[in-house]
Amino acid sequence: ELYNFRLIRADTKVYGIIGKPVGHSKSPLLFNAAFKSVGLNAVYVHFLVDDVDKFFTTYSSPDFASGCSCTIPHKEVALKCMDEVDPVAKKIGAVNNIVRKPDGKLIAFNTDYIGAITAIEDGLRGLDGAIPVVGSPLVGKLFVVLGAGGAGKSLAYGAAQKGARVIVANRTFERAKELADKVGGKAMTLREVENFHPEEGMVLANTTSVGMKPNIDQTPIPKHALKHYCLVFDAIYTPKDTRLLCEAKQTGAAIVYGTEMLIRQGFEQYKNFTGLPAPEDLFRQLMEKHA
Ligand code: ATR
Repeated sequence: ELYNFRLIRADTKVYGIIGKPVGHSKSPLLFNAAFKSVGLNAVYVHFLVDDVDKFFTTYSSPDFASGCSCTIPHKEVALKCMDEVDPVAKKIGAVNNIVRKPDGKLIAFNTDYIGAITAIEDGLRGLDGAIPVVGSPLVGKLFVVLGAGGAGKSLAYGAAQKGARVIVANRTFERAKELADKVGGKAMTLREVENFHPEEGMVLANTTSVGMKPNIDQTPIPKHALKHYCLVFDAIYTPKDTRLLCEAKQTGAAIVYGTEMLIRQGFEQYKNFTGLPAPEDLFRQLMEKHA
């Protein structure tokens, strides 16, 4: 059972996910359990929405739609309806987390990039023999992003903001070039990146759909090219163990799963909604149970 409507009172804060389609989203399950675990007078529902702008102007009470997650196909349009947007989210051009402040103003974030980047940072911090660093372990790292679509942008802007040296490699070179220019990085073709190893200890982030179900035998970069990377991240989470990640593991690199980005972006949303730390174990348990 997703919602317990008996708990809704006049002063209950209503949160939700806006999208179309939206019924499949597991977010209500996670957030309602999380609210309940700390006794918050709040619910989180599915909002099937056609017109995002109209939605926010129609429901402008601070207690209704106090916070929203935003999914397909509204992530880009929603950005334009906001009073304030996180600077990196603005550059990425997409938001997935909207908070209504007490004064009624709408502020939006992109927690997808934060989820991916923090997972990668923690992966680097956990490397054997890694010297503890003050600040981000991505500072000065060569960070190779495969793909230049929505997820590619998130990773490239996120890594650049942390001080990494970014390389964008994409099947369609022009798209790689456009993104690389915007983040102050360098563009390559996928073929070029196979033979690119100016130094050891590079970070690789796959954001292409190569290797996603049902094409699980595919990989965006051959195994021999992985030996120069200390950490490999795959944004794909179906399957969890992609061919890329399996081969990276065999090569001795640390790996970061796409599911980790997914769950961490949820932690960030919860923090922005409530100002409280996310009940991380509860989120993880529910995600596993309902995967
Ligand atoms: P998302 O928003 O999830 O990033 P997207 O915008 O459709 O999705 O981007 C998909 C990415 O996967 C693109 O970088 C795409 O490369 P192109 O720009 O050349 O289209 C990449 N991609 C998809 N199928 C691919 C394939 N078979 N080989 C290599 N790259 C592929």
